[in-house]
Amino acid sequence: MVFPDYRPRRFRRNAQLRSLIRETRLSPEQFIYPLFVMPGKGVREEISSMPGVFRMSVDQLGKEAKEIMSLGLNHVILFGLPEKKDPVGSGAHAKDGIIQKAIKELKNKTPDLMVTTDVCLCEYTSHGHCGVLINKQVDNDATLEILGQVALSHAKAGADIVAPSDMMDGRVAEIRGILDENDFDMVPIMSYAVKYASAFYGPFRDAAECAPQEGDRQGYQMDPANAREALREATLDVDEGADILMVKPAVAYLDIIKSLREEFDLPIAAYHVSGEYAMIKAAGERGWIDADRVMAETLLSIHRAGADIIITYGAKEMARMLNG
Ligand code: PBG
Repeated sequence: MVFPDYRPRRFRRNAQLRSLIRETRLSPEQFIYPLFVMPGKGVREEISSMPGVFRMSVDQLGKEAKEIMSLGLNHVILFGLPEKKDPVGSGAHAKDGIIQKAIKELKNKTPDLMVTTDVCLCEYTSHGHCGVLINKQVDNDATLEILGQVALSHAKAGADIVAPSDMMDGRVAEIRGILDENDFDMVPIMSYAVKYASAFYGPFRDAAECAPQEGDRQGYQMDPANAREALREATLDVDEGADILMVKPAVAYLDIIKSLREEFDLPIAAYHVSGEYAMIKAAGERGWIDADRVMAETLLSIHRAGADIIITYGAKEMARMLNG
């Protein structure tokens, strides 16, 4: 059937008809909101390159969590700024480390809020790399055992999901093994399976103080030019026991999200990263775009491409929009 018998505009006539045939919808339960936790008391400071996003001390988390839940959001991912850094990132698995304390505080104040933790060393190493250095190189196998300890310490503190973001080979198997040995076989792994060496992480690195002191992350994060390799990375993580596959960043990699969605039957997550958020906010502040509408359209595109779960700094404003 072609024009004039078929008229796609028939369903665009009013809001109800448009809504009737809408293929993709966003809802607050799909979002995971990142929180940055820092030492101190009574601290809540806005991150200059991420307007509307705050770094805060552990004692502020309860209030924040209640606000998050009041918007219909039920999931956060935690990033920590430790008091001290060292070459092997000991702070990442310290029993009284910043993240371990943050998880306990959240589980105490808002037990129903899901807490995912980022498992990585870059915020905890003095050199800012995601693993330990041997002869100035990030050593894969020496890093694995430490990552296992980090994931275990998060699970012990009460984390609901652990999310390794370091990009060491074999870390999902290592983490699954150590969690299972310690009776945490019910804690899922959300693997940053496909994480590109991206310039879009800029604002995050300021926020979490984790830029590498020397060199960059191209020795372990993926080359943005590679799409087939994304399937290989994801296959490895599935075989090692990942429960959720993540693609990161999101908007510049919608093709990758789509191909993972088609190839795998696991839940797919996408990380709408700091730079992607900051660009919308900055253009909005200048009056060049309507930031709310662009945020909504952007997050919708990530979901339409195939992401079931979206990690985004825009979760709160998006939830407000959805709640009307
Ligand atoms: C830690 C980590 C990073 C991000 C999430 N986990 C930084 C990096 O890999 O350099 C970036 C998130 C963002 O930009 O919002 N490895």
